[in-house]
Amino acid sequence: MLRAVLSVTPLLLALGCITEGTVLVVDTDPIVVPAPVPVPVPAPVPVPEGCVPNEAVYTSIAPIVADGCGDCHGEIPRFGAPMPLATYEDLVTWNAEVLAVLMDGSMPPENVADLEHTPKDTLVSWASCGVLHAPTEDGLIASRPVFEAGPDGPPGTTTVDVTANAQVIGPNVLDDYRRFRRVGLVTQDRFIRRIEPVIDDTRVLHHITLKNDDTGIYYYAWAPGTGPIEFPNGGVRLTPSTRLEVEIHYNNGAGVTDAVDSSGVRLFLGAPVGTEWAVASPQTWNIEVPPFGTAEASSTCTVVEPFEVLAGMPHMHQIGSAFSHTLTRVDGTQESLIELTGWSFEAQYIYAMGVDVGVGDTLHLRCVYENDGPDRVFAGLGTSDEMCYDFLYVTPASAAGQCSGPF
Ligand code: HEC
Repeated sequence: MLRAVLSVTPLLLALGCITEGTVLVVDTDPIVVPAPVPVPVPAPVPVPEGCVPNEAVYTSIAPIVADGCGDCHGEIPRFGAPMPLATYEDLVTWNAEVLAVLMDGSMPPENVADLEHTPKDTLVSWASCGVLHAPTEDGLIASRPVFEAGPDGPPGTTTVDVTANAQVIGPNVLDDYRRFRRVGLVTQDRFIRRIEPVIDDTRVLHHITLKNDDTGIYYYAWAPGTGPIEFPNGGVRLTPSTRLEVEIHYNNGAGVTDAVDSSGVRLFLGAPVGTEWAVASPQTWNIEVPPFGTAEASSTCTVVEPFEVLAGMPHMHQIGSAFSHTLTRVDGTQESLIELTGWSFEAQYIYAMGVDVGVGDTLHLRCVYENDGPDRVFAGLGTSDEMCYDFLYVTPASAAGQCSGPF
């Protein structure tokens, strides 16, 4: 028997979900976790031809380089370092080599302390004109396989794109959310059989969400690494009056000056036959991570209408380190919906689940954070805030409201 103390968020669980009290002490039997599957972090996108790091931002980059590299790559290089990295011009001259050593972790050398993740990521993003991000130390390990949607949409479907209209993303745009609404996409009811991202300017694109603006229910969320979702049978209902909203989160951290973006989503539409799906979104906003410390956030929800889970997409931001979503059956047995260690923001996948959840079962969501920076981190939508969500594709659609918080 394992004794675990669970702190449960009292708020933010929608109608139909029974919320539990403040702090519970629970006796738990060992959780059944499927064999771990290592998940490859996606191969980095090559740095664009002619990327010249933004000189105006150099003043905030110089201290990072001085701190991590300056002992050896100072104005007069020391300890066998072949060149200085002491000015903007030095960094431009050695840009490709600097990026290579930061991405493969070969600099600073083994015996010297590495840069913390956040400054390292800032340096990598700046040097690559916003295209690359520093990899996290440990690889991502998932308890379930990544959902495979296949390269093409289901036969007999037509496509429609819901995208931004050439948004100019200036060099000072940080954490900017822009919304694009569309109504009357169809003249009669259709099922959205598949959703895939339309990715345009990766230098400034942070993430994309697609939701039904009438119900607030999310249909899809994309962040780097996420593939398409496709329903094996049926789909999500789209009516002539459904108002869809695509929200795009832009972040021009590298300060590129020529960003124009038309990202969004592509919907594959078919006849409204077969299973109707919707998205449940278990979540907590009760997140507080101390500087240079670790913390957990969690929430528990009791199911009142049974549902089947096709797939799920865990979502956290930069300082997430581990994630679990555990199902406790009415008879006390436990199953893992998903268990992730070595979280990487660059690898936000949809995982295949195929689990039936019954009345009275409870879902326990848990996010773990490791903060290697000097600022306290709270829940929020911004890049440097944190989130704890598990988007679940479920049927019947009526069951999706439970365990989902307000937005
Ligand atoms: C403790 C000293 C030391 C520190 C700190 C250090 N380096 Fe180096 N660096 C070296 C030495 C020695 C070499 C040459 C031998 C080698 O390549 O291992 C080198 C080589 C390099 C090279 C050339 C590699 C190549 O393949 O051409 C790059 C680029 C580089 N360093 C970047 C960095 C960056 C960026 C940092 C900071 C994040 C850094 N170094 C921190 C000592 C250091």
